[in-house]
Amino acid sequence: MIAQNTPARRITMKKPAEPSSRGFDFAVIGSGLAGLTLALHLADHGEVALFAKAALADGSSLYAQGGIAAVLGPEDSFESHVRDTLDAGAGLCREDAVRFVVERAPEAIRWLIAQGAPFTTRDGRYHLTREGGHSQRRVIHAADATGRAVETTLAAKAEAHPRIHILTDHIAVDLVTSAKLGLAGPNRCLGLYALSKTTGTVAAYAARLTALATGGASKAYLYSSNPDTSTGDGISMAWRAGCRTANLEFVQFHPTCLYHPQAKSFLISEAVRGEGGLLRLPDGTRFMPGYDPRAELAPRDIVARAIDSEMKRLGLDSVDLDISHKGRAFIVEHFPNIYERCLGFGFDMAEGPIPVVPAAHYTCGGILTDLRGRTDLPGLYAVGECAYTGLHGANRLASNSLLECLVLGRAAAEDAASRLARTPAPVALPPWDESRVTDADEGVVVSHNWEELRRFMWDYVGIVRTNKRLERALHRVNLLNREIHEYYANFRISNDLIELRNLVQVAELIIRSAQSRTESRGLHYSRDYPEQDTAHPARDTILTPPQYAQAALPPGDHWP
Ligand code: FAD
Ligand code: SIN
Repeated sequence: MIAQNTPARRITMKKPAEPSSRGFDFAVIGSGLAGLTLALHLADHGEVALFAKAALADGSSLYAQGGIAAVLGPEDSFESHVRDTLDAGAGLCREDAVRFVVERAPEAIRWLIAQGAPFTTRDGRYHLTREGGHSQRRVIHAADATGRAVETTLAAKAEAHPRIHILTDHIAVDLVTSAKLGLAGPNRCLGLYALSKTTGTVAAYAARLTALATGGASKAYLYSSNPDTSTGDGISMAWRAGCRTANLEFVQFHPTCLYHPQAKSFLISEAVRGEGGLLRLPDGTRFMPGYDPRAELAPRDIVARAIDSEMKRLGLDSVDLDISHKGRAFIVEHFPNIYERCLGFGFDMAEGPIPVVPAAHYTCGGILTDLRGRTDLPGLYAVGECAYTGLHGANRLASNSLLECLVLGRAAAEDAASRLARTPAPVALPPWDESRVTDADEGVVVSHNWEELRRFMWDYVGIVRTNKRLERALHRVNLLNREIHEYYANFRISNDLIELRNLVQVAELIIRSAQSRTESRGLHYSRDYPEQDTAHPARDTILTPPQYAQAALPPGDHWP
């Protein structure tokens, strides 16, 4: 797999957490902004095991650039942030979810500041930048590396916390449920199996309550702004455990990643356009005003589709993003990291335009949850990019993702804390059974299948879709699924095999979700159904796993 951006700080494990017969109060799988927020709030109430399949800080959160949206200025209002989010979501947001998150945003930012997050100030006030789809300046940021500032601040807090037991380089393989163990009573989540990448062994970890915070699945695509961790593990694990998914067809393509063979889809923040950057064709003409009155600051789906359309129309490899008119001092002050990275690739943003292309960026759909992060499986929460709360609808508004991690992380932790006393103690879980597998003989199967998957997802399930392309993709993904299933059953598991199995599963769910939407809306654009269906009420694409046993209640409604 391809290394992404700059390496994350490798944080050493302070308190080794051996699997114990006692188990933990809480298991949190994932240590991005969602997982760290959960863990820090949960640790006030019990012992937390925090799993990360790579270094503690690695994940999309670390690479976030633009910032976090919140109503913080006197000219702004909750109504305006709600309206912008609903507009971007193209009729599919749940308004109660939007209000819930928007109204809690200022408090979430105050909590981050109290933890020590170093946001950028100008003239003694927090500087707010602007991004596509926002009608106000409302994005608080730490220059152009907000994710690094926030993630490393919280990671240090988690490391120092006596009740947070950190297991880095531990990849969760599957969730354990009472139904899988054949235990009597209503089904619930009992913990997980995780593979230590250091020792190569799989151990069981029992917990009273478990939370998935595993991020998105953008690595299903050939070109992605995401780090290698975004392989949809949590979505796939939840699906196998019987949880429904929602709206997975809405894959967000960020309009502007640097086009350079060595850049590995390095993101050029939307804030560059927010601060005046213009999109141009090679002859210097601007094209966005012809697509949308908001031009470069239209929501992402519109800008990415316009770029894709211009590239196809003119046979271009990329389009140009130009902010050189703002001058070197302005560019260096606002975008020090992007400026340096571009210079390293031979592009001086102060001298002229840089070449950009769209790349898969964000998984808008995910595990269906309520506004406390509860999934269909009692005892299992899902928070952050792996979840679908209804906030993003058919297209996420810029900088609303980190915000969702913070607000839902806290809401889920409060719910979990409130039910801890009445949740049964962790049960002893059976050891992982490797009696029928041997060492893998052909690692090449995994790497070839991975490449094939990412290429056909890009070609057939990308920015512009058709029925025929989706059919082709489904056919290919079914073949891969069979091959990987057989491989998984017969050979000892590895990190790459676990990730590939998950990514292929999520790819299948993305394709099936896309096939069931017979209209174009937000991020899902089909040439066979180019219009939005206005004759019927907007509907979510809910997929139900075969072993889902509940009546179709909202997630959380059947929790004891
Ligand atoms: P992540 O931060 O991706 O963390 C996932 C965690 O899960 C990692 O710790 C990983 O190791 C762990 N994990 C995954 N699978 C397993 C497993 N099987 N076992 C154990 N651990 C596992 N959003 C904004 O709001 N503002 C921005 O400015 C912004 N900029 C962005 C820039 C870039 C380049 C990218 C890629 C995204 C950006 N986003 C931004 C989106 C945002 O960063 C992500 O949606 C958000 O950080 C997701 O947080 P998360 O905690 O859900 O997942
Ligand atoms: C960016 O900085 O453009 C990314 C913002 C986001 O994904 O919300």
